[in-house]
Amino acid sequence: PRIRPLHRSFQTSVTPPKIPDFAFAFDIDGVLLRSSTPLPGAHEALKYLQESRIPFILLTNGGGKSETERVAELAEKLDVDLDVGMFVQSHTPFADMKEYHDKTVLVVGGDYDKCQRVAKEHYGFQNVVTPGDIVCAYPDIWPFSKIFLDYYKTFAKPLPKPINPASLADSLKFDAIFVYSDPRDWGLDASIILDVLLSESGYLGTLSSKNGDASLPNRGYQQDNQPKLYYSNPDLWWAASYHLPRLGQGGFREAFAGLWNAVTKGAELEKTVFGKPYQPTYEFAEGRLRAHRKKLFGHVGLNDPLKRVYMVGDNPESDIRGANDYKSPHGSEWKSILLKTGVYQSGTEPSCKPTVIVDNVEAAVRWAVKDAQ
Ligand code: G3P
Ligand code: MG
Repeated sequence: PRIRPLHRSFQTSVTPPKIPDFAFAFDIDGVLLRSSTPLPGAHEALKYLQESRIPFILLTNGGGKSETERVAELAEKLDVDLDVGMFVQSHTPFADMKEYHDKTVLVVGGDYDKCQRVAKEHYGFQNVVTPGDIVCAYPDIWPFSKIFLDYYKTFAKPLPKPINPASLADSLKFDAIFVYSDPRDWGLDASIILDVLLSESGYLGTLSSKNGDASLPNRGYQQDNQPKLYYSNPDLWWAASYHLPRLGQGGFREAFAGLWNAVTKGAELEKTVFGKPYQPTYEFAEGRLRAHRKKLFGHVGLNDPLKRVYMVGDNPESDIRGANDYKSPHGSEWKSILLKTGVYQSGTEPSCKPTVIVDNVEAAVRWAVKDAQ
């Protein structure tokens, strides 16, 4: 199909092949939105690509609600057609972790009730507990959140089991901890995660010497099945509506690491961090992009390879580093385009060098369409 110039600034003499051999992956915060406000040109850029049938996906370290809910919000805010096949957010890969579906997991961060619903109703986890549920059942577990109890009580759920160290058989035990989104109550979340990681095999209310701190009592239980800790988003900073970057989930992660180090006198903290810039996240995203491209054109033959993907981002450490380091199993080349509308501060040396630095998302699409010829 011909690329019809939608916007005079996009007028180009480009006449692309039937199925474009290039596509886009767009970061969201600092590229398309600042908090919930669309950035100038975001609608036009996406609309142009849709009119020109150039495939794109949205790839964000954000999260905190279901993919369907977030995509509906984005489609409305950006006034473009989107579907969940075009969308990857921080905790999307958690949905594949079926080994925890019948276990008891602690879900931390974001609005507790929203994240609990995502884990249960959208990802299939059957026993999901949040720090909000725990502090409503045991307010003394973190006394400093008593001032928030009335709010937590509006959605807290009863615990599947009580805290009962005297009889572990019917005591609350966690098999894994998932940080779904940016923690709101860092104190409550950190103290509950600490309790679970210092416990004997995940039994809340117990203590173990497993973590190398012999001063901690060892109840002598099995110590091999300590609960695993998963973070969904490594971002130390992100671009919200404030004019300077704000601390993200990576800020909480670093704060907790300091706490862990102090409490266990340097014991190693085992954790897994998902999200950009990591290879598995980009592989997952390319899989979604290829599936979307196939759906867009009904078929994609061997002579319609996806040769190049343009990653458009505002954060050198997640968007740019991830695209630069990504090794595509399909042989596509990823180029990184850094914008001045988010975390990256114009005029400074980015911590990871992009293919190109441009002003905003419209300029990014213009540059890429020319580069792709
Ligand atoms: O919590 C959201 C923040 O980490 C950044 O999201 O869209 O810029 O990857 P995004
Ligand atoms: Mg961003």
